[in-house]
Amino acid sequence: MIKSLQDYTVLHNGVKMPWFGLGVYKVEEGQEVFNSVKAAIKNGYRSIDTASFYKNEDGVGEAIKASGVPREELFITTKVWNDDQGYESTLAAFESSMQKLGLEYLDLYLIHWPVKGKYKETWRAIEKLYKDGRVRAIGVSNFHIHHLEDLLDDADIVPMVNQVEYHPSLTQEELHEYCRKHSIQLEAWSPLMRGQLLNNPVLMDIAKTYNKTVPQVILRWDIQNEVVTIPKSIKETRIIENADIFDFELTQAEMDKISSLNENKRVGTNPDSFDL
Ligand SMILES: NC(=O)c1ccc[n+]([C@@H]2O[C@H](COP(=O)([O-])OP(=O)(O)OC[C@H]3O[C@@H](n4cnc5c(N)ncnc54)[C@H](OP(=O)(O)O)[C@@H]3O)[C@@H](O)[C@H]2O)c1
Repeated sequence: MIKSLQDYTVLHNGVKMPWFGLGVYKVEEGQEVFNSVKAAIKNGYRSIDTASFYKNEDGVGEAIKASGVPREELFITTKVWNDDQGYESTLAAFESSMQKLGLEYLDLYLIHWPVKGKYKETWRAIEKLYKDGRVRAIGVSNFHIHHLEDLLDDADIVPMVNQVEYHPSLTQEELHEYCRKHSIQLEAWSPLMRGQLLNNPVLMDIAKTYNKTVPQVILRWDIQNEVVTIPKSIKETRIIENADIFDFELTQAEMDKISSLNENKRVGTNPDSFDL
């Protein structure tokens, strides 16, 4: 039973990763990202998810410094972008991200998308960064089962995390099962389906039962499903609201009802057909 915002899952290498964090995709570099990360940390968040692609690593780093929270209590994720994939270019991209973030070490480094013909070399570079102690955990994002199988054919290290689009309209059950079997922690991006589920009657009904909001019900469902979740908001009231999910528990029937909303429907790109 996950009881607080600081509770964590233990990755297969023993590293503790918070179940809950803040996403900062489409949050503007500068004051906007600084304010949202600072507000999140002030309100108990310990995990921040950025990417070089988001172009806001500088502001994330500034907010971390200004937070006053010891580095070792925070869990910072960033990702290598598609254009930087390949062995040497991944090593260089990592250094550039670290410089922007102003960090000595990273908590989680992810391959952002499975770029065909490149992700294995990228993974080899990420494994090196891990073996060199630059990053505490390594993983992938947007990997389908076939991508993972292909990666595992040659990998030294099994990814600790797979971050994918995941919400009640896209429950990814087969992938989740595969990840469980291989001790890969599933992490949800766009957990709120970027706002598209706010008026769903099933979710509204359940929310009413607990005097909670639809986002809170969805995020609680993530965590009870043992999926790490990183909703994004730039508004402090929502940052607080989203994390206020540790004082109620959905029943199995409610969990099943939410999962049955699945339509295999995405708000983002399908990893089999991306052109990013
Ligand atoms: N690996 C990948 O390829 C990938 C792809 C996409 C996203 N991600 C990560 O996942 C994170 C989350 O995904 P996301 O940003 O796409 O979408 P999301 O978290 O599902 O939704 C964010 C949207 O919902 C709004 N919102 C947040 N809390 C709310 C609340 N309590 N009530 C009503 N509206 C609310 C936000 O608006 P306001 O900001 O105005 O509150 C924003 O428009 C990203 O920030 C990023 O870190 C990763």
